[in-house]
Amino acid sequence: EKGGYDHFMLKEIFEQPNAIRDTYRGRLLVNEAIVKMAGVEDNMKKFLNAERIIVVACGTSWHAGLVSEYIFEEFARIPVEVEYASEFRYRNPIITEKDVVIAISQSGETADTMAAIKLAKSKGAFVFGVCNVVGSSISRETDAGAYTHAGPEIGVASTKAFTTQITVLTLIALRLARAKGTMSSSDYRLHLQELELIPEKVEKTLLSDDHVKEISAIYKDATNFLYLGRGFNFPVALEGALKLKEISYIHAEGYPAAEMKHGPIALIDEQMPVVVIATRKGHYEKVVSNIQEIKSRKGKIIAIVTEGDVSVKELADHVIEIPASEEALSPLLTTIPLQLLSYYIAVMRECNVDQPRNLAKSVTVE
Ligand code: M6R
Repeated sequence: EKGGYDHFMLKEIFEQPNAIRDTYRGRLLVNEAIVKMAGVEDNMKKFLNAERIIVVACGTSWHAGLVSEYIFEEFARIPVEVEYASEFRYRNPIITEKDVVIAISQSGETADTMAAIKLAKSKGAFVFGVCNVVGSSISRETDAGAYTHAGPEIGVASTKAFTTQITVLTLIALRLARAKGTMSSSDYRLHLQELELIPEKVEKTLLSDDHVKEISAIYKDATNFLYLGRGFNFPVALEGALKLKEISYIHAEGYPAAEMKHGPIALIDEQMPVVVIATRKGHYEKVVSNIQEIKSRKGKIIAIVTEGDVSVKELADHVIEIPASEEALSPLLTTIPLQLLSYYIAVMRECNVDQPRNLAKSVTVE
């Protein structure tokens, strides 16, 4: 059932190229330059009239929501707020009929997300679900939705659910950008083509497997980790830290790289591994100077870079290369080595990867 892999998590990490293909199949029509999603098409008016989008979710799904904030705002110029479902539901939030609420949930059973949906509906908002489990409670409670089609995710640590959620949200953002005319048609087409190529690039990224394993062996006994990223890749830093915490029980924090100087830099010494997402275009020069700051404090740098990178290679202790892509799509690639890193570290620490202590696959209590 694990298809020859030692754990479901590893199997699911390696399933991502096909999972992403399944997510966009029939929806991403590159030759026709069309994005087709029934749930969006049927409710186009609601989306186009939306004064803002509010995303509600928990955990990894919340991180996918954060990535989508950057994508929706960039592509479709719709203001987005991303809320922890648990905070949103108890805050007497300001919601009107002009809001579109997007609820993201792999399991479709998360109690806090469900309560947030009910609250938003009671205030008259249109609620759109992005779920993986077909027929789940959230998929039934929402007004409309789009499934991720990632297939069953068994490992408690979410992997393919995350990348397929981002894929669905990117498709929606592209569809809305086209309808609103907020993206030039050449840019729009370029992103459709590039999205279609992502599964191949994920395959290529997965070839770093052995290299990531070697790096994992060096840092498996660390007691803390920092993860830094900017822009589209800031949420990926949060997600990388969450993965490490939940399966290897190492304390880890994710930060926007520029926030380092406002506090976390005090933590850096020769004991501190810092994972930095430093791909081309993503505020590259600024991230390079953050890396210099870490280096001068003797922190150990594990950098995720674009193939052919020169500057970061000179500074970092280790680099993991990913293929070049459009910046907005890069989270689908940068997240892969971070999943592998947490996986191998957890295995080397003899942790129960698929069923980490104190955690359940779906959190049906608040
Ligand atoms: O099923 P959901 O997407 O609603 O679950 C939300 C979180 O409980 C979930 O993403 C959790 O954070 C994962 N264990 C993270 O890997």
